[in-house]
Parts: sequence; C-alpha cells; structure tokens
Amino acid sequence: MDETEKAIKKIKNGVFVVTFSLDGINYGLTTAWVNRASFKPNSVMVSIGRNRKGYNELLDCEIFCVNILGNEHLEIARHFGDTNGNNINNFKDLEFKFMENGSPVLKNCVAAFECKLVKKIDAGDHVVLFGEVLNGIDQEGEGMIFNREDFS
Ligand SMILES: Cc1cc2nc3c(=O)[nH]c(=O)nc-3n(C[C@H](O)[C@H](O)[C@H](O)COP(=O)(O)O)c2cc1C
Repeated sequence: MDETEKAIKKIKNGVFVVTFSLDGINYGLTTAWVNRASFKPNSVMVSIGRNRKGYNELLDCEIFCVNILGNEHLEIARHFGDTNGNNINNFKDLEFKFMENGSPVLKNCVAAFECKLVKKIDAGDHVVLFGEVLNGIDQEGEGMIFNREDFS
C-alpha cells in the first residue's frame, strides 16, 4: 500500500446498513462511506459503488434508511457487506420493522433515520447520494468504528 493510500485510510468511518424496500422486497447494503452533509436541511451523503447490486433499485425507491450499527453488530455488517451481493435482499433470521416512510429498520441498531433521495453526484467509480433526513429513532448504544481487520 503506498503512502497516499495509507494516509487516506486514516479517515475514521462508522459502519451502517442502508436499507430500503421496493415492490415488497427488502434490501440491505453495508456501507462505511456515510456522513452528515448539512444541518438545514438536515441531510446526509452516502457513497455507493455504481455497480453494486441493488443500486438501481435504491434509485427507484427514492426513500432509504441509514441503520447505525454498534460493536455487537459485526455479523450483520458482514451479512449485508457480502461482496457477492448474495445477502442484499436477505433479511432472513434478522428482526426488523418498518419506519413510517416504509423502510425496513433493523430492530437492534443503535439509531436509524429515513431519508428522501434528493440528489446524486458522480464520483468516479462511486455515486454520492444525498438524502434529506425525514425522521429518526435513537436506541441504546454507540456506533461501531470501521476496522478493516474485522472484514478480512
Ligand atoms: C464494512 C463494509 C463497508 C462497506 N462500505 C461500502 C460503501 O460505503 N459503499 C459501497 O458501495 N459498498 C460498500 N461495501 C460493499 C457493499 O456492502 C457490497 O458491495 C454489497 O453488499 C453488494 O454486493 P456487490 O458488491 O456484490 O454488489 C461495504 C462492505 C463492508 C463489509
């Protein structure tokens, strides 16, 4: 790994699952590249690889939920972060309910908020989605910090 790559990897990220529902199918995608984008309106940005399975469905859906995972949720992060995309629509064995705008929310996530997709910006091999935050829930616990070794 060159020095520039080492430098950029020192950015600290949380670990999240972006969830949404389309045509009766629930989707979940582990993401680390999520950040707050503005206070007014309250908005966040999520960077999604343009070839990710579920990407087109996410755009069609227009409403998504950011589930913030805690340290105890490593298995959930691995489940929805499978880069074969095998589990992106697999909520089997996971407890969830629906938020008021129809997104599935993982029962034990430490917090979650639903967003309306308001803008997307091309960023090389990723696309940055801007979501205006509609509503949120705050539950027990603190967010997990992404550690590469947990996913190797
Ligand atoms: C810890 C972790 C963080 C990830 N962060 C992102 C991310 O920010 N953006 C993204 O597009 N994919 C991210 N991924 C990969 C997707 O979760 C994965 O690509 C997805 O499950 C779909 O699979 P596919 O790549 O086969 O389409 C991450 C995976 C893991 C394990």
